[in-house]
Formats: sequence, structure tokens, C-alpha cells
Amino acid sequence: MALAVCLVIILAVSVAYCGSHKLQHYLSMISAPIYGMPEYSFRVYVDGLPVLRYKSDVQVAQFLVPSLNNLSEHLEIQTKVAQIWQIHQERKMKFLIGFLNKTSDRAAVHVYQRKFTCELHENRTIGGYQEFALNGKELISFDKDREVFVAATQEAVNMLPRWNKDMCNQMWNKMYLENECIEHMKLYLSLITTDLKKKVKPKVKVSSSESESGTKLHCWVYGFYPRDVEVKWIKNGRDEIYSEESAEILPNPDGTYQIRVSVEVTPEEGATYSCHVDHSSLENPLVTFERKISHMTYRIVAAVAVAILFALALFLCIKMKVGELALENNHCGIAQEAFYSTV
Ligand SMILES: *[C@@H]1O[C@H](CO)[C@@H](O)[C@H](O)[C@H]1NC(C)=O
Ligand SMILES: *[C@@H]1O[C@H](CO)[C@@H](O)[C@H](O)[C@H]1NC(C)=O
Ligand SMILES: *[C@@H]1O[C@H](CO)[C@@H](O)[C@H](O)[C@H]1NC(C)=O
Repeated sequence: MALAVCLVIILAVSVAYCGSHKLQHYLSMISAPIYGMPEYSFRVYVDGLPVLRYKSDVQVAQFLVPSLNNLSEHLEIQTKVAQIWQIHQERKMKFLIGFLNKTSDRAAVHVYQRKFTCELHENRTIGGYQEFALNGKELISFDKDREVFVAATQEAVNMLPRWNKDMCNQMWNKMYLENECIEHMKLYLSLITTDLKKKVKPKVKVSSSESESGTKLHCWVYGFYPRDVEVKWIKNGRDEIYSEESAEILPNPDGTYQIRVSVEVTPEEGATYSCHVDHSSLENPLVTFERKISHMTYRIVAAVAVAILFALALFLCIKMKVGELALENNHCGIAQEAFYSTV
């Protein structure tokens, strides 16, 4: 009885914040205007679901899920914070560009990215980290527990003393990740539980292309939610074909995800190749066969056959022509001979 009560309590508690949760904040800024692209923008994700974005061209923060729409006051504050943040990020970007001697190339457009994440673990502890990158290369990260910035490259090692002194306040970063970030996460989580349970089935397209060493099979899986997915290529219904390239799960603007898994094969007569997709929205894994492989052999045979027929026809034509000419000169013998020799 006591056990049952205990279980009920545990269940009731864990429904609210079951498992671990994370809030991710992805920010990017470009050093010069590019047509059609905001100079400064960010997106906030909770457990992988995009919930909020800000773009400098519209200058307002916007919710990406309708269930948050009545947090209008919160949204106004986020807009103001985003605008103040823009000034700070610009300073950081300019510092990085200057320190890495990238100012000389005036035509170049640099991309500054800042990514931070706070996590609420199952055991109620709080985790968090941050990364700063320029032109797609991570330079500096922040270790919340040790309250230090860590250099990711040799260039960044030399930069750290000035960075620590002028650019970032360790205390602020720690406080932010442990307090405001977690508070926002809890606020959003309380309103988006149904959105998080939403599941969208993946669509699958398979195709093949010729490569130097054989044939490449591509399995494009798209439009699914949530993010976790398993995609693999199977030969003859049992042997997994391992991919040399690691496939990345990419976000779509509509909040769904996509991935493309490619493998290289040497086509064999009679072999079947299928792409297997497993996702939480599916009762059974989706299996899609690539059929073009076997058709390809036929296509080659067909092409060769056509070529032979064409050559034969050409040969016949010439012979006939010769025959006709011969016929004009000599009414029998040669024409007959020409015809028979081609058969
Ligand atoms: C948002 O809606 C909920 C109920 O749907 C309500 O309790 C809450 O007060 C609303 N918040 C605001 C800021 O209007
Ligand atoms: C940038 O240039 C300065 C002076 O030319 C030099 O001392 C410094 O090491 C350079 N920094 C990098 C990261 O290359
Ligand atoms: C709590 O969980 C996290 C993530 O699973 C782990 O890294 C951490 O060490 C745990 N902390 C304690 C005190 O158990």
C-alpha cells in the first residue's frame, strides 16, 4: 500500500518535469549586410522545439508556438533584452575579428555565432555551457562549473586574457545560465507540454547517383518531429551498410527536421537495397526500397542492344546502297551477295 502511494506520488511529480530538459539559445551576427539576411538573429529551443526568435530586420521577438502567445509582457521584455544584447554581441564580434587579424580583408563577411544551453537534469542539478565561434570555427567556450572561459584553438589561447578582462563577465554568465535561463525554460515548459508531445511522421525519398568507385545510395528523410531518428541502409533485408560520412540532423524553418544518409555500394546482380527509418511517430519502421540499381543493369544491356541494332542498320544501309549501285550496273549477282553477307 505504502509502495503504491509512493509510486503515485513519484508519477505525479515526474509528470510536471519528467526526465531532463534543456533550453538552447542560438545567436548569429554578420559583419556586413547581406541581402535578405538579418544582421543579427537568434532562436530559442526548448527540448529541441523552436519556441522564440528575434531578427534585427523586424526588431521584435516572436513566439514560434501559439501556446505561448499570451505571454505578451514576457515577449516585450525579450525584445528589449535582444536589442541591448545586439550591442554587446557586436562588440564581441569586432573584438574577435580584430584579434584574429581579419580586418585587412575588407570585402569579407564574417559570421559570429554564440550558442548557450542550460540544462535541468533528472537529479535536479543544473548544467550549462556556452560557445563562441567565428566563421563556423569554435574559439571559446564557457565552463559554468569552473567559472572559466576555455580556449578551443591556439589563436584563442592568446586572446583569453583580454577576453576575460574586457569582453565577458564570468559571474554574469554563470548567474544567467543558472537562473534566468532555467526560469525561462520552466515558464515555456509549463505551456508547451502538448506541443512537445506532437509527433510528425517523416517522409522518405531514396535515390542513387553514380560515383567514381561505384553507386551512391541516398536516403532523404524529412519533415519529422521530434528530432531523434534512426536511418540506415540494409542490403538484402539483413546486412546493414555503414556510411563513411556522418549524417547530420538539420532543422527546417517550420520546426521539423531532416537528414540525408548516403552509402556507397558496388551494385550486385539480384541484390536489394532498402532504407530503414525508425522514429517515435511510427508504429513500425518505414522501409523504402531503391529499385533503380537493378534497372541500371537492364539499362546498360538495353543501351548496348540499341547500339548493336543501330550499327547493324547502318551497315545494312550501306550494303543496300552498294547493292543498289551494283544492281544498276549488274542486275543480279552482287546485290544478292551483299544482302546475304550481312545476315
Ligand atoms: C494566459 O492564459 C492562461 C489560461 O489560458 C491564464 O491563466 C493566464 O493568466 C494568461 N496569462 C496572461 C499573461 O494573460
Ligand atoms: C595579428 O597580428 C599581430 C601583429 O601583426 C600579431 O602580433 C598577432 O600574433 C596576430 N594574431 C593572430 C591571431 O594571428
Ligand atoms: C546529475 O545528473 C547529471 C546528468 O545526468 C550528472 O552529470 C551529474 O553528475 C549528476 N549530479 C549528481 C550530484 O548526481
